[in-house]
Amino acid sequence: MDEQDQTSLKAYYRNLVLYAHRMPKLGSISFAAATISHVLKDYADLPIGGFEEFCLQMVAAMHPLTYVHSLTVASLVRFLASRLLEESPEVFIGFQGARTTEEVLALSREILCHAEHAALCHDIGKLFVIEIIMTYGRRLTDQEFALIKGHPDIGAYILKQHKETQDLFAVALCHHDSQGQLEERITNGTIDPSERPFVDITCCADSLDAATDAVGRSYKKGKSFDEVMAELYAESGTRYASYVVDLLHKEDVMADVKAILIEGREENYRRAYKFLYDITVQDAAISL
Ligand SMILES: [Fe+2]
Ligand SMILES: [Fe+2]
Repeated sequence: MDEQDQTSLKAYYRNLVLYAHRMPKLGSISFAAATISHVLKDYADLPIGGFEEFCLQMVAAMHPLTYVHSLTVASLVRFLASRLLEESPEVFIGFQGARTTEEVLALSREILCHAEHAALCHDIGKLFVIEIIMTYGRRLTDQEFALIKGHPDIGAYILKQHKETQDLFAVALCHHDSQGQLEERITNGTIDPSERPFVDITCCADSLDAATDAVGRSYKKGKSFDEVMAELYAESGTRYASYVVDLLHKEDVMADVKAILIEGREENYRRAYKFLYDITVQDAAISL
């Protein structure tokens, strides 16, 4: 690909993000989803910004609240992974072939990077159910809920399409699994056992952010932090991994998690609005 091709391809992807941002006003979401699906499938790698960044920009343009959720879950996951590395590094044995805790610790940077990026992309599949997510003012039907429930499979499919993101698919696929379902996927070889701690951490972080965010969910009211922590505790060992729940109940961990859910989330809302502001300014400039 020569320089001219790269420039036009970059402009093409940028325009697609702008288009996604305009979509709700155009009222042609299904058509746009088909276009996006085509682009995601045939995405050509650019030297600046990769496939992951492109997907996240699409999420931000189509549904900023899911973008804020992804950023907040990623911050929580990175924090919890760093605490696990300090306290129980053995849970990461197997990551990139690490056989001992020393080898795990030598891979700390890679582990945190993988944890964060997998969490950032965990809800990428929502790109294709955005039309339902954007339904306000009425309860969703059972069929709509079933479609939303398909987002982990869609997300895993999208991430597997490209070399840059294929290692991130397990977290997207399993982030709503119970412990039993996860076990089954490991046993039948769908995911590698070394992905387990990343899935376990993301499951808890996902519920913590989703349940306590009163703004970002059109179909649920926000719960208090204590209520969600009690739910995690009640389902420790069945839906959630008990070693992550135990970590979350440590006082200092809880304080930092609360800070990420309050100040961290506010900062993420600001980031999303800044992105939307920038994109709207570009949109206006193109329309002139
Ligand atoms: Fe999800
Ligand atoms: Fe999520």
